Amino acid sequence: MANLYHIITYGCQMNEHDSENIAGLLEAMGYEYADDAYEADIVVMNTCSIRENADKRFFGVLGQFKKLKKTNPDFILCVCGCMPQQPRVIEEIKKSFAWVDVIFGTQNIKQFPELLDARIRTGRKQMAIIDNNPVVEEDMEPKRVFRHKALVNITYGCNNFCTYCIVPYTRGREKSRTIKDVKCEVERLCADGVKEVMLLGQNVDSFKDAATGGTFADLLRELDTVDGLERIRFMTSHPKDISDDMISCYQTCSKLCHNIHLPVQCGNDRVLKRMNRHYDRARYLDRVAKLREVCPDITISTDIIVGFPGETEEEFEDTLSLCKEVRYDSAFTFIYSPREGTPAARFEDQIPEEIKHARFDRLVDCINEISLEKNKCYVGGTYDVLVEGISKNDDCIYSGRTDGFKLVNFTVPEGIALTDGTIVKVQITDAKTFSLEGRLI
Ligand code: SAH
Ligand code: SF4
Ligand code: F3S
Repeated sequence: MANLYHIITYGCQMNEHDSENIAGLLEAMGYEYADDAYEADIVVMNTCSIRENADKRFFGVLGQFKKLKKTNPDFILCVCGCMPQQPRVIEEIKKSFAWVDVIFGTQNIKQFPELLDARIRTGRKQMAIIDNNPVVEEDMEPKRVFRHKALVNITYGCNNFCTYCIVPYTRGREKSRTIKDVKCEVERLCADGVKEVMLLGQNVDSFKDAATGGTFADLLRELDTVDGLERIRFMTSHPKDISDDMISCYQTCSKLCHNIHLPVQCGNDRVLKRMNRHYDRARYLDRVAKLREVCPDITISTDIIVGFPGETEEEFEDTLSLCKEVRYDSAFTFIYSPREGTPAARFEDQIPEEIKHARFDRLVDCINEISLEKNKCYVGGTYDVLVEGISKNDDCIYSGRTDGFKLVNFTVPEGIALTDGTIVKVQITDAKTFSLEGRLI
């Protein structure tokens, strides 16, 4: 029997996609996937360090694998992703988790088979971490989680250095792929049955084809011509860089979904400046107005941080008022978490935990109320839904997403079976805060 592997993935879609590549590399080496980490011979932990709780959870889970080392002498534990890009984490692993076998960075994924092989041959710990790989690691064969949708990187790294954020330190400087390479990849995916692509970059709007100077809008227009592709999504857009040309794509590119994730982080200009976001509230609201002018049915989601150092009560209320003004379809809300090595962690006016939590609760209430009101507007309407799966408990309930990324759980008559990736018409019968309910037409 082949040896078994398991991958534990934390963090964002960049990590999810990296894990697909790591799985592809392991399967090319002859390993087979195990559902249960405790049955695997190799476990890879693909880590995230965006907030402190991600950090804590990682060390907690890591500790549990020590037992496996005792019961299975051949067990190999690998750690990759954003955590080991930080020197303090490497020190901690060396000090308290010296039994970890292979450590590799976010820009050393292609080297993983070599490292694993060396570990197995020599029995010695292997490590490869580079801060800024000038070469874009391409041409891996990912093992995709879904048949009908795929994650596609368009840029790697980030140059923005928002003062709270660890990502520029863990993913290196921003590098764009070429439009030609991205299009080739999307064409191959569509030939293999993919209907929807999610283009990934920390700031997709700063995409710049190094060969042709082509912009993100140029890339969207190219991808819109790919045969078999039904839906194009992307994340994340940056309010400082999103251009009128990009926004015009909502009119000209028929495959571009009417949805955008446009993180605002905060509604107050002084805080935005201290966050180093390079836009103000007026610019943000102008971008939202432009998006809605070009694409009236666009759904908008966002990311918000509460309790950034120095945020006053009035400044926090500016965030609430902005949410009421924009009326987001949904929002990811975060309590500010100081990350060692980032400028904001050194700001002196850190906000006490209880104030941060109280603001967080108020924000969540405000967001949820708006989400529910917005979802209620869908009731009675009929929408195209791309089927994503069937309920575990009931063969007559499927789930899928509208073009605007609304999650829909819908019933189908007995005896009808739907395939993932097909687009069906669903009438919406009820609305909840985070999803819609409906029935197949
Ligand atoms: N590149 C994307 C976001 C990547 S991180 C962008 O610029 O929008 C995802 C989200 O995590 C961020 O938008 C931010 O809201 C949140 N986040 C990042 N660092 C954080 C920190 N130190 N504390 C709390 N939330 C943070
Ligand atoms: Fe972090 Fe800002 Fe870069 Fe987003 S744009 S990854 S928040 S530094
Ligand atoms: Fe986490 Fe790294 Fe993504 S810190 S959010 S896995 S870029």
